[in-house]
Amino acid sequence: MKILTGIQPSGKLHWGNYFGAMKSMFDLQAKGESLFMFIANFHAMTTVRDGAALRAATRDVALDYLACGLDPARSIMYRQSDVPEVQELAWYLSCLTPMGLLERCHSYKDKLAHGLDATHGLFAYPVLMAADILIMNAELVPVGKDQKQHLEVTRDLAQKFNNAYGEIFTLPDAYIPETVATIPGTDGQKMSKSYHNTIELFEDAKSIKKKVMAIVTDSTPMEAPKEPEGNSIYELYKLFATPDEVAAMAAAFRAGGYGYGHAKKALLEAYHRLFDPFRARREELAKDPATLEDILQDGARRARAAAAPVMDKVRRAVGL
Ligand code: ADP
Ligand code: TRP
Repeated sequence: MKILTGIQPSGKLHWGNYFGAMKSMFDLQAKGESLFMFIANFHAMTTVRDGAALRAATRDVALDYLACGLDPARSIMYRQSDVPEVQELAWYLSCLTPMGLLERCHSYKDKLAHGLDATHGLFAYPVLMAADILIMNAELVPVGKDQKQHLEVTRDLAQKFNNAYGEIFTLPDAYIPETVATIPGTDGQKMSKSYHNTIELFEDAKSIKKKVMAIVTDSTPMEAPKEPEGNSIYELYKLFATPDEVAAMAAAFRAGGYGYGHAKKALLEAYHRLFDPFRARREELAKDPATLEDILQDGARRARAAAAPVMDKVRRAVGL
């Protein structure tokens, strides 16, 4: 099975990204699947207008993935810009893309509503995304719910291309594990960098502690019994702790005499247990930029090799 996913380097990765997207990829990798994982730096230019910041964010995403478990021997990690053929393919797809199809995309409308500039890049975003996927003939694309429509656009464009030029592209399926919950942020809303309620994977320990301690709770007194379900601290604890530990916390809440402060401490400990080894690995990797660059270059070489036969057929088909 050919599995491909991309992530924009447009901010520091947070707990929501890890449990909502990264972890399911590592689980697939552990089952023996090899993954294509690329850092969508072309896409990030729809929002990041500072070259140094984009370069740093791209590197940070690569370090985060490697630190948390991406295995470069098994999986292919590359920068989108290192496979420039995606831009070429995006043009061929553009010439088959009805304006109405893009006009109907919720993500474009949502981004305008959030104050992003209405640029052509933002409007054409789904076409480039389709090119990312089709160029590798990916079969399965793990994404968040918000990307479902973009996968429908991808299938639509693949079909249009195949109808016009012959069966070249595989129609990919989205992989949206229903079991992945929406991870709450420090204010109880969905954790998202746009809501400024994130806890980053690798921000410094002091700052993580401060944010965990500031997670919004109700004002039920410490002594009173409490219902854990729906409580942000408990929901976050479920992500990090073992089933026995989760059951113990639920029982403690229900029994009373167990406060939100206790639960926050337990959450912080569980975070450190999982992430301290990742942090140590990240620090090692960060000391050696040449090795990181080698990993990315090797990924690019393997990704371009996978794209080459597809692009060959495509160019021939369109008349080049
Ligand atoms: P943000 O909302 O911070 O901008 P992105 O939209 O860049 O995050 O998300 C990248 C990936 O992480 C997507 O696959 C998305 O579904 C997942 N993700 C982000 N935040 C959460 C969350 N709070 N809960 C579950 N998954 C999330
Ligand atoms: N649009 C995706 C997001 O914002 C990132 C992305 C770009 C992507 N190209 C892709 C994801 C191709 C999967 C496949 O999360």
